[in-house]
Amino acid sequence: MATVDNNLVRIFDTTLRDGEQSPGCTMNSAEKLEIARQLAHLGVDIIEAGFPAASPDDLAAVQRIAREVGSADGPIIAGLARAVEKDIVTCWEGVKLAQKPRIHTFLGTSDIHLKYQTGITRQKALEVIRQSVTLARSLCADVEFSPMDAGRTDPKFLIEVCALAVECGATTLNIPDTVGYVMPQEWYELVATLVAETPGAGVGSGVIWSVHCHNDLGLATANTLAGVLAGARQVEVTINGIGERAGNTSLEEVVMAIQTRPQYYNLHTNINTREIMKTSRMVSNYTGMHVQPNKAIVGANAFAHEAGIHQDGMLKNAATYEIMTPETVGLTQSKLVLGKHSGRHALKVRLQELGYSIDGDALNQVFARFKELADAKKTVTDADLQALIADEFHGPDEIYSLADIQVTCGTMGMPTATVKVQHVDGETFVHAAVGVGPVDASYRAIDAIIKAPNTLIEYSVHSVTEGISALGEVTVRIESPDGQRTFGGYGADADVIVASVKAYLAAVNRMVAAMGIGRAPEGEAATVNVASGTD
Ligand code: KIV
Ligand code: ZN
Repeated sequence: MATVDNNLVRIFDTTLRDGEQSPGCTMNSAEKLEIARQLAHLGVDIIEAGFPAASPDDLAAVQRIAREVGSADGPIIAGLARAVEKDIVTCWEGVKLAQKPRIHTFLGTSDIHLKYQTGITRQKALEVIRQSVTLARSLCADVEFSPMDAGRTDPKFLIEVCALAVECGATTLNIPDTVGYVMPQEWYELVATLVAETPGAGVGSGVIWSVHCHNDLGLATANTLAGVLAGARQVEVTINGIGERAGNTSLEEVVMAIQTRPQYYNLHTNINTREIMKTSRMVSNYTGMHVQPNKAIVGANAFAHEAGIHQDGMLKNAATYEIMTPETVGLTQSKLVLGKHSGRHALKVRLQELGYSIDGDALNQVFARFKELADAKKTVTDADLQALIADEFHGPDEIYSLADIQVTCGTMGMPTATVKVQHVDGETFVHAAVGVGPVDASYRAIDAIIKAPNTLIEYSVHSVTEGISALGEVTVRIESPDGQRTFGGYGADADVIVASVKAYLAAVNRMVAAMGIGRAPEGEAATVNVASGTD
């Protein structure tokens, strides 16, 4: 019989499910698959690949990940399902091709959720849990149950709920602080009580306790670690902490806390921490969710030392101001420096080391972009390459793509952009517009062509590396005309106006695809109009 490692904290990554629920974070199925592959490489124990009943696309994406990433020596592939028959059956359809599938089903158990969301009594909730966990277990040997809003659920009722879920076959009990309300000490006490008092789920029962914390009060990591101290041996996390509202607990923070303080926790994870930076950049590039510079572990400033006294200490001994080395999280300088003299083979090898297997036409495409960049800047870094890959191959299916752009701007007023956009059918449209600046003018020209009105709610530009010739990365977020949905876009180019236009087109393409709005391609190509902006 396999021995259970009681000091192992299992990492359950929900970037592709709870993370994808962040406003504007929608990813396509190719992006999800590549992130899942990288998560497996990172060493996560469980990937929550999606919510199969949400849409046929979600189901297909989960099936693809189950088939291609869920190998016998790979991670468990989980899917989420509400505690209803249709969701559970669809979830099983999603995950069953994995060698190690899991059904994760949930029901809100706080009085607020019972009264206002499901409109059922506690008694009825127990019946629903009995039926849904029993059904899930009849399909799959590995079943996780979450009493949603556990942080605000009456602890006595919570114990009853957890005991019932275990009796019906749940193998993991996940305790969510769905609204990020609980304080670390309270969370510790709640989890410790549940572990000690839930019949059938104590130490030695084989049931794994898990915690899932949201970050509304900035306490997600603290609460998750408190849960671990109280006996949880699975943590539900996302890369960069993305997720609903203020986000979920970030994987990198929990993993590095456990690794950096071995005497305090005496625990370990299966994560290869050197893959953290690469994974963080991949998720940021594909979701268009920029990582704040002061973000713990993966922010651009996380290992930067500015103050004179700090720099002095660092020069004498890095331990003065660094509690972990940048190398531990994968912030290394590649030994193979790529530049304008590097060939296709060197590029291919470096891309392989970064986790991308690219060949044939795709490699030629990246090589052409790489050469352009290498002409503009002396050395091309790993971060530059990741940005190029994200720009070339990821984003929505392109309904409209940028054919050409020309801008005039300066101090004389009337910044003008002439933009040529190609529809996927081959039809091209040209429009010229005036705006408050070249980016505004370009976006106005695109709006006039595509006719998909939206509100630009976020625009950010930053350079991938230092230096005047660095590659510019732009992320944008737009809001749909009804104000109900947001869509993100990402673009990278040595020219920030081009990067800005690519990012905007990516977001608009997502909105057009999701909401079926925008112009119908019609008749002849190339209309030329001039629109002007006032703001
Ligand atoms: O936050 C939450 O309660 C969830 C559950 C579905 C686990 O995401
Ligand atoms: Zn959640």
